[in-house]
Amino acid sequence: MDPTSPRTVTWTNMEDGTADDYVESTASFNQHVHDSLTDHLFGLLRSMQGPRFGYQVDRYRHSLQSATRTLRNGEDTEMVVAALLHDVGDVVAPANHSAVAAEILKPYVSDRTHWIVRHHGVFQGYYFFHHVGGDRDAREAFRDHEWFDDCAAFCDEYDQNCFDPAYDELPLEDFRPLVEEVLHRPSRFEMVTLA
Ligand SMILES: [Fe+2]
Ligand SMILES: [Fe+2]
Repeated sequence: MDPTSPRTVTWTNMEDGTADDYVESTASFNQHVHDSLTDHLFGLLRSMQGPRFGYQVDRYRHSLQSATRTLRNGEDTEMVVAALLHDVGDVVAPANHSAVAAEILKPYVSDRTHWIVRHHGVFQGYYFFHHVGGDRDAREAFRDHEWFDDCAAFCDEYDQNCFDPAYDELPLEDFRPLVEEVLHRPSRFEMVTLA
């Protein structure tokens, strides 16, 4: 069977499908994900090229600088990928971008990496929330968490400092092998738990 072009089912209501139908369509879908997910996420990253909102670099360069600093500092592959994608939720979910990026990564990364990406927004607030009417210490709600220091370090070393027009970040395609290594890991979720 060519998983990219399964036979078309005869039914229109899912309740009428057979096990064979779903085995074939699931294999086809999984192959599609394997082949295209990196490109889709790179598309989101590239869509952040342009607008700078007054910053000296756009969010695309910010993301590349974050990943490049993470790589050059010797972090493991999934943390480099997490850094590259930590703001990708901004494109489609600006009000909760940390949660969206974290959920994109969750099937393929450790609980620690997921937690860091999930909470980087509130931790990043330490550097500017007080200038816009917020509480820069909002992150203190997580002070006793085992990964508090790790998330604080992520923001300090790989996020708040990644707005430098003079920084020589690596090009996006240099990260493709790393992204594919992570995204091609077996998902931690079983198909039956997908939602
Ligand atoms: Fe962010
Ligand atoms: Fe960021």
